[in-house]
Amino acid sequence: MTNNGNPDMRVPGTVTIGGDLVVGRIGFGAMQLTGPKVWGEYPDRDGGIELLKEVVDAGINFIDTADVYGPHTNEILIHDALHPYPADLVIATKGGFVRGGPDYKDWDAVGNRVYLRQCVYTSLRRLDLDRIDLYYLHAPTASDVPFEQQMETLAELQQEGLIRHIGLSNLTAAQLRTAQRIVEIAAVTAHYNVGVRLGAELLEAAERDGIPFSPWHPAAIPRDHTASRFSSILQPIAKEYGVTVQQVALAWQLHRSPTMLPIPGTTNVAHMAENLAAASVSLTPVEVEAITDLVTEAGSDK
Ligand SMILES: NC(=O)c1ccc[n+]([C@@H]2O[C@H](COP(=O)([O-])OP(=O)(O)OC[C@H]3O[C@@H](n4cnc5c(N)ncnc54)[C@H](OP(=O)(O)O)[C@@H]3O)[C@@H](O)[C@H]2O)c1
Repeated sequence: MTNNGNPDMRVPGTVTIGGDLVVGRIGFGAMQLTGPKVWGEYPDRDGGIELLKEVVDAGINFIDTADVYGPHTNEILIHDALHPYPADLVIATKGGFVRGGPDYKDWDAVGNRVYLRQCVYTSLRRLDLDRIDLYYLHAPTASDVPFEQQMETLAELQQEGLIRHIGLSNLTAAQLRTAQRIVEIAAVTAHYNVGVRLGAELLEAAERDGIPFSPWHPAAIPRDHTASRFSSILQPIAKEYGVTVQQVALAWQLHRSPTMLPIPGTTNVAHMAENLAAASVSLTPVEVEAITDLVTEAGSDK
């Protein structure tokens, strides 16, 4: 194992989205660059801009955002930091999710055709793009319109050239199959990490189809009463390689499946470099299995 902790290293290996967008295996989740509870402006605007520039300078070329982060402020910050964008940068954004105010729990999904079209048009405007490389439906839970019709709306936007590739967020494997009967799905994203395997069945389906799976909160490690069980496995591995437990958690993601595209989020340049360096931590099959076995995956995607 080499390069751990070296901020200058490049991400080895790539993932291909939709057959034509090649990105490094560790992306960046920009959600934290908002106000408290993902509401409003990121308080340190200059620091946020500097961090985003460092992200692309370090070699990361996949950034995950959403119109609901802020709302809107996250996309605007990315635009202000990085436009005109590097040619190889893929910005994935999402729509169809709304916040009722700064209370973190006051949210809902909206699937109305005109609303989703407005989401895409206004993300294009905020990001100053002609076409969004990867556009996720943020959640398949909108009750105003059947899921199938929401997929038809995204297909329509793709045919009009406003979306290059369509992705889906927080769905089940069965919903992926439903969507694939309507339109090609180029990527999926779900909550999946050493302690939470909500996306396990979806990961299996994505791997079978060769679709990138982007785990969110990818490096999170349980801090509740189960914490010691996780640290008893993760700490010795981290010590052995001279890295942090977060780096072990990210390295495990990459070993878990060749389709993984983790999007660790951070407000800290040193953490961003560490997250990127996790791509060169080589775990043994026994270590990978020990981490995988910390949580039962079967039937978790219900
Ligand atoms: N599709 C969805 O519904 C959905 C939902 C949630 C999130 N997401 C996406 O997933 C991305 C990742 O989630 P997240 O932003 O909550 O980030 P995360 O990867 O879960 O980690 C965030 C936390 O971990 C800390 N951290 C990050 N790197 C670290 C490191 N190397 N060492 C120690 N601590 C570290 C951060 O603190 P510091 O800032 O101090 O580093 C922060 O407190 C989001 O940005 C968003 O793009 C998607």
